[in-house]
Amino acid sequence: MSDRTSPASSAFPESFTWGTASSSHQVEGDNTRSDWWDWETQGKIRSGHTSGKALGWWGGRAEEDLSLARSFHQNAHRLSLEWSRLEPQPGVFDDAAFTRYREILGHMRDIGLRPFVTLNHFTLPQWVARRGSWLDPDLPEMFARYCAEVARRLGDLVDSWMTINEPTVLVLMSYLGDKWPPASSSLVPGAKAFLHLMQAHALGSQALRSVRPDIPVGLVHNFPLFEAHRGGNPFDRAVTWVREFAWNEAILDTLSSGRVGFPFSITGREIPGLRESIDFFGVNYYGRYEVKFDPSSRLVMGRHVQTPTTALDEESDWGQADPRGLEEALIRAHQQLEVPVFVTENGIYDADDSQRPGFLVDHLHAVKRAMDRGADVRGYFHWSLVDNFEWAEGWHTPFGLIHVDRRTGERTPKQSAHLYADICRTGALPDLPVAKRDDVSTPGAAREQTSQPA
Ligand code: BGC
Repeated sequence: MSDRTSPASSAFPESFTWGTASSSHQVEGDNTRSDWWDWETQGKIRSGHTSGKALGWWGGRAEEDLSLARSFHQNAHRLSLEWSRLEPQPGVFDDAAFTRYREILGHMRDIGLRPFVTLNHFTLPQWVARRGSWLDPDLPEMFARYCAEVARRLGDLVDSWMTINEPTVLVLMSYLGDKWPPASSSLVPGAKAFLHLMQAHALGSQALRSVRPDIPVGLVHNFPLFEAHRGGNPFDRAVTWVREFAWNEAILDTLSSGRVGFPFSITGREIPGLRESIDFFGVNYYGRYEVKFDPSSRLVMGRHVQTPTTALDEESDWGQADPRGLEEALIRAHQQLEVPVFVTENGIYDADDSQRPGFLVDHLHAVKRAMDRGADVRGYFHWSLVDNFEWAEGWHTPFGLIHVDRRTGERTPKQSAHLYADICRTGALPDLPVAKRDDVSTPGAAREQTSQPA
């Protein structure tokens, strides 16, 4: 393990991509044809929150926020497209929705913000949900049709594609669990959804490349660090290994073998095109989970332990801030997949911005250490640009560099936005005293923003 108190040379290459990330449903507003709209209006979100008008990006504020990002010296932004807007009925594409996305992406191009575009970030059109969401075996083909149409109509404005955001998170929250739609809550749907997501990724990648062979395609994985709570306890070690294997190794092994199967992909089903499906890999990193053996836990015989506890519950838990995990994830992804990697998300919920500055610098030092150890890391996207709608937690957990007043819509950059702007501008990291492990483990402990959106 590297020494966190002595960061290596902190100058990033000039070509490094510096950005922030967002997703359509979390910022656009009035996303009325998506499965999440139905889910929210059934009162499924904490405190009864709904996405509502969100941050008004669809209604015109995207340009303003993205301009703010550019004025803070970011040179790229990762955003997602809303499938339910672009294809509101099967096979029927909406010209006006394509026009609006052309405006947003065109604006980004004009101001010097390179668009990194995700085709699917958790949400699905309502017509897809009626067919069974990711349990529908025909969905991979339909996803590929949507990808091809997007590539034809928007490809000229796009820098890089990502097919699907965090397949394992989606499987856990929506199919193994019940916090997100369609809340299947059992093992067989979980396995089926994972298979279909991998098929959709492979077919989607082929479709995007067949229209625009010049644009790189990636997949984005949420890549936590799992560690045994009691290092000497064989049960804790065993459940930690299972958790790690079923989460991180499942994706790395699936992509490198081109097969989906359990327990080992080698015995599984070969998915045409999967092995060659990525030009780069996206790592989303939030933190470390300590895993403790507990036969009563729903999560594969283990449960997460937080000291001090910051989790809302076991499934709404971003782990403990620990940059070591990011460094290791980048090195491992690069070594196993042999493609360039990007940090496609990294952030912390922290309402008063007391933790975020240290978190940001600590994690960027970890990125640099990974690069110094040979990982081909091409860019970093902080999650997120503006405080936004956080899925099952509604408006409770602000991740943005920029605060948004939910009543007036006023944007106020936080201290961390200014700090990140300096880093983006100079490509160099301040030598903050890097906090000791115990000092960086209280994400979001401060006041929460709980007001319901307008
Ligand atoms: C997701 C984002 C989410 C963030 C913070 C990531 O797993 O891609 O949509 O807002 O985590 O929870």
